[in-house]
Amino acid sequence: MGVGVSFDFAGYTKEHIEEVVEKEELPLLINPKDMPFIRFVGEEELLEIERTAEKLREYFSTLVVVGMGGSSLGSMALHDALCYKAKRELLFLDNVDPLLISRTLKKLDLGKTLFVFVSKSGRTLETVAILNVVLEKLRNEVPNFEKHLLFIGDLGKSFERLASRVGSPFLPVPEEVGGRFSVFTSVALFPAAFVGYDIRTFIGGAQRAVKEAEVGLKLGACKFLHYLEGRINSVLVPYSNYLREFTEWYAQLWGESLGKDGKGQTPVKAIGTPSRHSVFQLFMDGPDDKVYQFFLIKRYPEDLVLPRKTEILPFLAGKRLSEVMEAEFKGALRALRERGRPLIVFEIPELSEFELGYLFMTYMIATVGMARLMKVNPYGQPAVEIGKKFALEELRKGE
Ligand code: PA5
Repeated sequence: MGVGVSFDFAGYTKEHIEEVVEKEELPLLINPKDMPFIRFVGEEELLEIERTAEKLREYFSTLVVVGMGGSSLGSMALHDALCYKAKRELLFLDNVDPLLISRTLKKLDLGKTLFVFVSKSGRTLETVAILNVVLEKLRNEVPNFEKHLLFIGDLGKSFERLASRVGSPFLPVPEEVGGRFSVFTSVALFPAAFVGYDIRTFIGGAQRAVKEAEVGLKLGACKFLHYLEGRINSVLVPYSNYLREFTEWYAQLWGESLGKDGKGQTPVKAIGTPSRHSVFQLFMDGPDDKVYQFFLIKRYPEDLVLPRKTEILPFLAGKRLSEVMEAEFKGALRALRERGRPLIVFEIPELSEFELGYLFMTYMIATVGMARLMKVNPYGQPAVEIGKKFALEELRKGE
């Protein structure tokens, strides 16, 4: 059973959405030129990632990934969802926040820790700053410090050169695959393989999503139709704490790819059920300027049954927590539907590699489809680069 997506409550008929997909010839986008991320890693590269991960797993119990934006968000989202089956510890340093770096470095057992530095450009300020702090610490505190390092980046850029200078392994990322579209490259595949996730099944889920690309394209088309009607916000509400990082990944993908030329649809992150006790008031009674995407997990990896006799609410007796969750989910859908809010509903059989591969890929396809309809280029982030340049200028003052 695969991931089910329903546009039934989205305020448009299926036929209407399909018409946009057909008329704008969105299926023609499914090729490696328009979507470089659908060219998956080859067998040789996959074996290299798996062998490197297997070898390093023998020596290290903790992996710390250092990277910004697309160089860590996909990996974080995957780990967040699958952490219940991780065989090694995986941590992320995705901010130059001094307290975060200092506290993390203090608590690590450096002798058992591998650091993976991820940067396609090899020049990202935060990543390079943390890299230098870590390098200094390792040089001073562990023998053969270079064995505690692995670099991931574009071929021919500074990370490859640094890896060869210090004698550490290096894994390449295809240059044509941009950061926020890189979750099916070594960027996320290596950390996933290291902690023991099945990266072949993860890729298998993505390949299914490419085969069923009309789902992603319809998702993009449906959201575009709402955008035209003034729904300039796009809410994602997974009913799982373990998809919180997926909402972060989605926010970057949707925001950084489409927010251009005065256009864009603001990604809004929520979580079922806590958000129902906070922002749902706004979703129900606020402006009708949002389209909603709901994720329900059909089978949780672990579940609990309430006692036969319960306090306060007797009808809870013998119910599973997953049933309470589903009732909450249905209640929220019904309430929003009664208000006429447009809903797109994903039913996800379980939190596993295949389903996650499918979701990541479906959203990347939707992004490129939406970009075509909005007439913006989904790749590149010219406005982000301005802030990066100014930050560097700040640091170079008085040089
Ligand atoms: O999506 C993107 O391209 C960006 O978010 C980058 O991933 C981010 O800026 C980090 O860049 P780099 O991998 O060059 O360090």
